[in-house]
Amino acid sequence: MAGFCAESARFAQFLARDATGDAAGFVEASVRRDYVNGAQSTPVGFLEGLYVAPASRGRGVARALVQAAEAWALGAGCREMALDAAIDGDAAHAAYRAMGYAETERAVFFAKPLPCEARAASGSLPVSFRRATPADADTLAVLGAQVFLDTYAPDGVRPTVAREVLATFSPEACAAWVADPRSVVEVAELDGHVVGFAHLVLGAGHALAPPGQPAELLRLYVQRPFAGRGIGTALLRRAEHAAAEAGAAVLWLTAWVHNAPALAFYAARGYADFGATPYRFEREVHENRVVARRLPPHNAGSPGPTEAPP
Ligand SMILES: CC(C)(COP(=O)(O)OP(=O)(O)OC[C@H]1O[C@@H](n2cnc3c(N)ncnc32)[C@H](O)[C@@H]1OP(=O)(O)O)[C@@H](O)C(=O)NCCC(=O)NCCS
Repeated sequence: MAGFCAESARFAQFLARDATGDAAGFVEASVRRDYVNGAQSTPVGFLEGLYVAPASRGRGVARALVQAAEAWALGAGCREMALDAAIDGDAAHAAYRAMGYAETERAVFFAKPLPCEARAASGSLPVSFRRATPADADTLAVLGAQVFLDTYAPDGVRPTVAREVLATFSPEACAAWVADPRSVVEVAELDGHVVGFAHLVLGAGHALAPPGQPAELLRLYVQRPFAGRGIGTALLRRAEHAAAEAGAAVLWLTAWVHNAPALAFYAARGYADFGATPYRFEREVHENRVVARRLPPHNAGSPGPTEAPP
């Protein structure tokens, strides 16, 4: 926003205040010199954003803001004003029509992650990805225990948690999931060290998951010093690709309701919440959220490079 404010020839912002001086709404406008759908001239004034606080709606605030933006665009040499609005935003459409705007076109936006996602996101780290082998069992056990404790035992370790970790991440348990034909375990490696892994279980369903051939992302763990570098995203995309390749149409997982960073991570990557499910160990019951996304059909994309360059 500070960057927009600094470029006053291209962007303008107007703030409306109510009788008490509080902010009632704002509009942001720009001068666009690239092609603007439906416009006949160039440059075109464009309404980038318009917001009116709920308490100030229905009082002409939007109209006044739009008029201010139009006057600014006129002064900047524009002969037309344009905007885009969500296709289902009927109230906004009606408001713009009332202000003299006519619908010109309808568009549907498409996007797809390119194979370079892992490369770009993992920055300068030379991370490589591969399927786990039985030889990784000890490493997965130790890394799994570490990430589990970092995530779920921030206050220290109590006996129930210790037993849960020792059982879930014993080398034998890890060797068993690597060997299980329904499992796909992808590891992220940096300089010969495993820094993260994703564990997918093909065919595993959940009552709350949306319909379709399911796969479960049982674990997605990145060692804390390497978090925030794109490794989790790359592992997730590889797991999605492996699941789709095996015929899955839906990938679901459960995340602890208080694991806000993980829930935000999945939401930002297209996963929707499908409800609460209990996670039990011994006598403890914790709430997990079931989140899931539909997978694009196999062949719709590549999981990314096996190695991100230095
Ligand atoms: C959640 C997790 C897998 C993400 O892996 P990652 O390598 O940090 O993810 P990326 O770098 O690709 O993406 C970073 C994103 O995750 C968010 N994030 C979540 N936890 C984070 C952490 N500890 N450190 C940095 N970023 C974190 C960031 O805000 C960022 O969000 P954005 O890109 O949508 O703005 C990883 O942090 C992790 O292993 N956490 C502990 C275990 C866990 O919670 N697993 C999921 C349980 S279901």
